[in-house]
Amino acid sequence: MSETFQFRLLASDGGARRGEITMPRGTIRTPAFMPVGTGGTVKAMYMDQVRELGADIILGNTYHLMLRPGAERVARLGGLHDFARWPYPILTDSGGFQVMSLAALRKLDERGVTFKSHIDGVKYDMTPERSIEIQGLLDSDIQMQLDECIRLPAERDDVERAMELSLRWADRCKAAFGDQPGKAMFGIVQGGDVPDLRVRSAQALAAMDLKGYAVGGLAVGEPQAVMLEMLEAVCPVLPAEKPRYLMGVGTPDDMLKSVARGIDMFDCVMPTRAGRHGLAYTRFGKINLRNARHADDPRPLDAESDCPAARDYSRAYLHHLVRSGEALGGMLLTWNNLAYYQRLMQGARDAIEAGRYGNYVAQTQAGWERGDL
Ligand code: GUN
Repeated sequence: MSETFQFRLLASDGGARRGEITMPRGTIRTPAFMPVGTGGTVKAMYMDQVRELGADIILGNTYHLMLRPGAERVARLGGLHDFARWPYPILTDSGGFQVMSLAALRKLDERGVTFKSHIDGVKYDMTPERSIEIQGLLDSDIQMQLDECIRLPAERDDVERAMELSLRWADRCKAAFGDQPGKAMFGIVQGGDVPDLRVRSAQALAAMDLKGYAVGGLAVGEPQAVMLEMLEAVCPVLPAEKPRYLMGVGTPDDMLKSVARGIDMFDCVMPTRAGRHGLAYTRFGKINLRNARHADDPRPLDAESDCPAARDYSRAYLHHLVRSGEALGGMLLTWNNLAYYQRLMQGARDAIEAGRYGNYVAQTQAGWERGDL
């Protein structure tokens, strides 16, 4: 642990990096997967379990927490860490992205964005300064700038306008965040699917000397090849000595390929959401437990896993739970999926240290393709 926010690169293998963020609430081993705890809970999981699986940091959402239970209330109750019983680092997203995907009657201008809550229709006003204030009330360790994530496909002019606006908002967020040595505020690279706009965004943010950089506006429906092309444009422009976070990504394959291009941190609802919908991520690829072919299958998801959810319950039982809509089905599959995601990242960290990352990716992909038949 450390009194100040620090990032150290420990090893690299091609473009892939093995690093460590140290900060007062703990150490984050990178490449890192951050489970999504939108409203102060990683759905269907106990925090103790999330920790035990190897999570060093979880993600929370400004948008959800400001609406319910309210940021001022969380602050009065001692902050998000105490409220949710997670004493380790928390990264919060700034709200812009969730406003755009969830809220009603959004109006965006230079000042910020006004919107109506998707829960009760109450009107809210979000500015870069208010987003940082809320993230401070939550006592978030890594705070994100407010940004505008534009939907693709979009005209170049619109992508450019949103990217430039996000840069001005990054400046305002940096000023609002001020000097907090134990915490960090990350900028977010935008620029859609236009490489030269991505490069300009990354250059301008790099010049602001922020403590870390996210890449936003990806995995919004574009082909994987486009996402990887954007990473290849952006990562070389970002300072090597700062962490890089790819927002909202992704599948296990997306993550392995992004690590190879220089990404250090990920978050995604996929393992938790898919788990609640009956989908298991395993060494053998994805397994849909809703499928009737599992009804008589006595095998566990993965007999060699050290995760009880993967090792000790038959596929027939998981199929039964999922088909019956039992809460335990979502709990066990979420547990399995987060265990798989964390092991995938641990494997990546080990492989980078050993200088065999390419090999690790090839072997992992071969496992998915082979299946378990
Ligand atoms: N989550 C996934 N993508 C994005 C993005 O572009 N911006 C923000 N703020 N959050 C995200």
